[in-house]
Amino acid sequence: MSLAIINIGSLVTNDSNLGSGILGEREGAALVIENGTISWVGESKQVPETDSMIDALGMGVIPGFVDSHAHMVFAGDRSKEFEARMNGEKYSAGGIKSTVARTRAASDSELEDNFVSLQNEMIRSGITTFESKSGYGLSVVDEARSLAIAAKHTSETTFLGAHVVPEDYAGKADDYIALVTGEMLESCASHAKWVDVFCDVGAFDVDQSREVLKAGIAKGLLPRIHANQLATGGGVQLAVELDCASADHCTYLSDADIDALADSNTVATLLPGAEFSTRASYPDAKKLFAAGATVALATDCNPGSSYTTSMSFCIAVAIRDMGFSPEQALWSATMGGAKALRRNDIGALSVGTSADLVLLSAPSFRHIGYRPGVDQISQVLKNGKTIYKHQDGNK
Ligand code: NIG
Ligand code: FE
Repeated sequence: MSLAIINIGSLVTNDSNLGSGILGEREGAALVIENGTISWVGESKQVPETDSMIDALGMGVIPGFVDSHAHMVFAGDRSKEFEARMNGEKYSAGGIKSTVARTRAASDSELEDNFVSLQNEMIRSGITTFESKSGYGLSVVDEARSLAIAAKHTSETTFLGAHVVPEDYAGKADDYIALVTGEMLESCASHAKWVDVFCDVGAFDVDQSREVLKAGIAKGLLPRIHANQLATGGGVQLAVELDCASADHCTYLSDADIDALADSNTVATLLPGAEFSTRASYPDAKKLFAAGATVALATDCNPGSSYTTSMSFCIAVAIRDMGFSPEQALWSATMGGAKALRRNDIGALSVGTSADLVLLSAPSFRHIGYRPGVDQISQVLKNGKTIYKHQDGNK
């Protein structure tokens, strides 16, 4: 079965051979999908014959968003905490523990229902690939079941047993690290692709984080890290030392951190929702781009610091408050996310990539930041199949 999408207003390919600028953007294009992958990109007037066709009617098409950082296995919400923060209280890593209590008390089906409802929100927001971490179980059983649930819905699963030291291990951080790197890792590794650690004030220090990541690597997991969210520290340098796919948050970066990222294969993943929802100051993406670092944008969907599944919201904030150009923000939410997951089959629309794409109800990606808070996702395809269609069609 072949499918053509014709009369595309602005097509973002993320392939500089196919169009202009960092987005490889072109006007008046069409693309053809065969067996779930892109098989042809060119002028709409020259589109080859196919079994079926979607007329984009001059609206924009972009690669599906790649959300490389989310925490979707949890129960309950922390709206009161959010309210307190908006009234002046400061965010701390400790809030995680209240979600741990709710998560442990929840059944598998409650956790999965919540997961699927967030996943559906993501799809409606144009996200076609997402990562999800564990990290709200913090016991052998609860971390393993969190990952088993996530693994039913995404191949990008991350073991985050080292999110914080749970209450039952208060004052016994070393014992908890031994559990995470021993029995917990043993039970979780088969459900996870990645290992992560929250390396920050109130969570784990650099030596503890190194121990956790190295144990995961020894078990065949690939490392990524929560680093420099709450303060400068050694998290980013550790990410580079261990060739982490991504250093996430990067809210507080020194010049040496920026240089280290720029000279590495580690993507700097920025999470605008977290700064927005914790009233933290935004990192300056301009410095990262100027140094030559690779930058991704992700939702960080979680009940504490960033309860959003909207990549469009993240893009708008990134443009308005973090120094991204509209082009850089779109690239970071698509190709940047793919690089943060070390994937080269997604994040672009060129021959051979997965046909994961979004038809917008706007002529180009520029409208995402230009019309903040407005739903402009008209249709979402994954592997060439429609997984979401706005009820108003091509509005
Ligand atoms: O990425 N920073 C650590 N973990 C989450 C927040 C978790 C929470 O507050 O529940 C984050 O922001
Ligand atoms: Fe996170």
